[in-house]
Amino acid sequence: MTTLTIRGGRPLTGTIRVSGRKNATLPLIAATLLADGTSRLENVPQIHDVLVYRDLLIGLGARVDWDPVRGVLTVHTNGVRPGEPDYHLATSIRASYYLLGVMLARYGEASVPLPGGDKIGHRPVDQHFKGLQALGAEVWMDRGIMRARARRLRGGTVYLDIVSVGATIQVMLAAALAEGTTVIQNCAREPHVVAVANFINACGGKVSGAGTDTIRVRGVQRLTGAAHTVIPDDIEAGTWMMAAVMTRGDVTLQNVIPTHITPIMAKLREAGAEIHELGDAVRVIGPDRPQAINLKTLPYPGFPTDAQSQMTALLTLASGTSYVTETLYEDRFRFVPELVRMGAQIRVEGRTAIVKGVDRLYGAPVEATDIRAGAALVLAGLAAEGETTIYGMEHVQRGYEKLEQKLQALGAQVKMERQGVAVG
Ligand code: UD1
Repeated sequence: MTTLTIRGGRPLTGTIRVSGRKNATLPLIAATLLADGTSRLENVPQIHDVLVYRDLLIGLGARVDWDPVRGVLTVHTNGVRPGEPDYHLATSIRASYYLLGVMLARYGEASVPLPGGDKIGHRPVDQHFKGLQALGAEVWMDRGIMRARARRLRGGTVYLDIVSVGATIQVMLAAALAEGTTVIQNCAREPHVVAVANFINACGGKVSGAGTDTIRVRGVQRLTGAAHTVIPDDIEAGTWMMAAVMTRGDVTLQNVIPTHITPIMAKLREAGAEIHELGDAVRVIGPDRPQAINLKTLPYPGFPTDAQSQMTALLTLASGTSYVTETLYEDRFRFVPELVRMGAQIRVEGRTAIVKGVDRLYGAPVEATDIRAGAALVLAGLAAEGETTIYGMEHVQRGYEKLEQKLQALGAQVKMERQGVAVG
């Protein structure tokens, strides 16, 4: 158990660099297995999920060199053989499901345990199966293991019933090496979908339309390893922006792509934040007190579900009552009782949290139940009077690089400990 102790109530000020995007990095690491030879990923964050993915690839026979200081991950795939990824590693994260499409495309068969990841609701994989079946694969569940096989994948048309990042990328990965052209309709449009398409193309693939709701993939016989720089993490950027707003701070974030965080910036401006876009940096100045706003999570370019918990924490201190509706995951309000321990006034009715702003939050012991819930509690702790101890910080470490160092660089009084041992 890792804990973070925060002595709150100080405005965050200063400049920090946003890390590479978790949800781009993980499918990119999987995608390296599609290509012969060596691929080099840059701006890779040193987070738990990346280390798990590295170990998954090593288990499948890849040689992986990881330079955490420079954020460079190099994957040599020549030693990879068909096989089943390690059960415990695969079930400890969500993105392990990408190995299904990748191994199927490469070897004609794949077996991958049903993935794990944040417990934020029912997370089916039916659209992944539908997509792979449209490419001619036989796909089935076998006692907790997803299995797929096809003598040769053939291009097909698939309409996704739900806009799913995971299913869009899954089908794109498998289609890259299929015979003929695949059309994916009702796709997710997230910038990390575009990033994976760009990487496949850099390896010699033929993907077009990524970033729109229809992607076309012309399959090729062979892909060759390439270099790629991971885009900045929109959710990390959003979390820091909210920290600035909640603490009446003044924070500059380097390494951001402002267009990728438009939905978050729009809602923060609505809540009263002053935000300056400075090329690949943004400066956020918090108001005396944020104003209540209403928001609904939606696929990109809507407001991201992964920033909902943090925004709800922010709104606990707003003047007025906010309505926050979560449309993607039914269990994404599990952090609410923890915020209530700190003095927040929130009532959850179905998929909506009704947040009545209070004048102040008070430090308290609380527990993180997933990455973003933990991030929300960190924000609340930074703004609260007195000391907050957050248990379960290992969830947060799955997705936030150098959290303690970045908080300290912004002047926060924080200490991370693992079972009584300081974590550097
Ligand atoms: C990914 C992200 C997660 C983020 C989410 C939405 C990774 C590792 N995780 O998760 O951080 O919160 O995108 O931006 O990248 N669905 C189905 N059937 C499917 C697939 C999805 O019903 O086969 C539903 C899900 O339950 C959810 C919605 O579609 O309600 C969107 O899910 P999806 O975009 O696939 O998210 P994940 O891949 O689970």
